[in-house]
Amino acid sequence: MSAEEEAITQARLAVGQVFTPGSPVNERDLFSGRIEQFNFVLDAVTQRGYHAVMYGERGVGKTSLANVITSALDRSGKWIISRVTCDVSDDYASLWRKALQDVVLTRSRPGVGFNAEDTTENGRLVDQLPLELSPDNIRRTLIEMSSASPILIVFDEFDRISSDRTTTLMADTIKSLSDVGVAATVLLIGVADSVAELIEGHASIERVLVQIPMPRMSKDEILDIILKGISRLGMKIDQSACDEVASLSQGLPYIAHLLSLNSVRAALHLDSLLVKSDHVASGMQRALDQWQQSIKVSYYEASKSQQPGHIFKEVLLACALAEVDELGFFTAAAVRAPLRAITKKNYDIPNFARHLKELSEAGRGELLQRVGETRRIRYRFTSPIMRPYVVIRAVAENLIGKAALKQIQKTTTA
Ligand SMILES: Nc1ncnc2c1ncn2[C@@H]1O[C@H](COP(=O)(O)OP(=O)(O)OP(=O)(O)O)[C@@H](O)[C@H]1O
Ligand SMILES: [Mg+2]
Repeated sequence: MSAEEEAITQARLAVGQVFTPGSPVNERDLFSGRIEQFNFVLDAVTQRGYHAVMYGERGVGKTSLANVITSALDRSGKWIISRVTCDVSDDYASLWRKALQDVVLTRSRPGVGFNAEDTTENGRLVDQLPLELSPDNIRRTLIEMSSASPILIVFDEFDRISSDRTTTLMADTIKSLSDVGVAATVLLIGVADSVAELIEGHASIERVLVQIPMPRMSKDEILDIILKGISRLGMKIDQSACDEVASLSQGLPYIAHLLSLNSVRAALHLDSLLVKSDHVASGMQRALDQWQQSIKVSYYEASKSQQPGHIFKEVLLACALAEVDELGFFTAAAVRAPLRAITKKNYDIPNFARHLKELSEAGRGELLQRVGETRRIRYRFTSPIMRPYVVIRAVAENLIGKAALKQIQKTTTA
């Protein structure tokens, strides 16, 4: 085998470990950007008496950030770390049982008899906890545990907890841990627009709860993900190909991984260690096929029409390219410019207001969420990964040329 063939084989074997749209990053070397958030979370969790909550859209990289932080603390060897993934069936007691399930208590008992030595006994802490747990039980347990090392407990996917009682008890726990300055920190993570959505009664703990919103990634951070991965594979990528993947990713690392994975595979399939625009084009096609079925179905529902010459696809694309606020909302006015650029027609709001309305209704898959009163109505894609899907599909179907796309993106993104 030639050196090049060997390199191609190695890259083929490794690409699925480097670009992982399905799983969070675990390795510091493959983690990009997020310096500000990293420091913010680290400061919060290491400061006694403070706790933290990290929230943001699905797939922006919350779990990945938590992973690199917990590994950094773990490496220091000074922390006890526990990670819990919440699910819908959890209540307060089950959450804490999960958090404490690996804790082993070692107790020594005095020996029986005059010269007998003391014996030590190991037992699982959870077996000794009462069935019903309260913030007070937890506080006392954590005080005992933290006498040796500080503790960090991460509750990921906290948005899945639907019971207000559970989140209220969690707020009470945080309050009570802070009040006595226990060396135990709680980090809550969840998909939400705001902390209020995640925790009932959060106002009572506002002072001790550091709030860390996770925004989409900047273009540079996304470029870094692509370049780090490509170089790890011993490959190269054309500047234009790299730019395409980055702008189609729309700040979502999940999409950057998905497109990079498929573009690299397309290049390797043609025995090339250099990824070019053509490979990105076929990678895009494969990525579209692999996209969540639910997204494909709602796109179909949204864009089908009996009438010839309808513009649902164009309106959808214009929505996907419209300028958004920090929560992902856009106005009808923001749809106008991209729609004109796509169709080369002078459409105005009355020409597509009906489309926006219908796209927010069940008949068209409720692709958009609609909020606000008349005149102040705003829209947002119900699923954040629908936006890149619409754009990538439009490019793949030639609904918009690459140059036109670049032009629109230049005017709508900072
Ligand atoms: N800083 C980063 N550097 C490189 N890749 C990242 C980074 N952050 C996230 N990713 C990648 O993006 C994808 C989504 O990341 P992750 O699972 O951490 O997001 P999340 O916000 O926890 O998602 P969810 O809301 O679904 O739980 C994964 O493929 C992960 O590998
Ligand atoms: Mg996650």
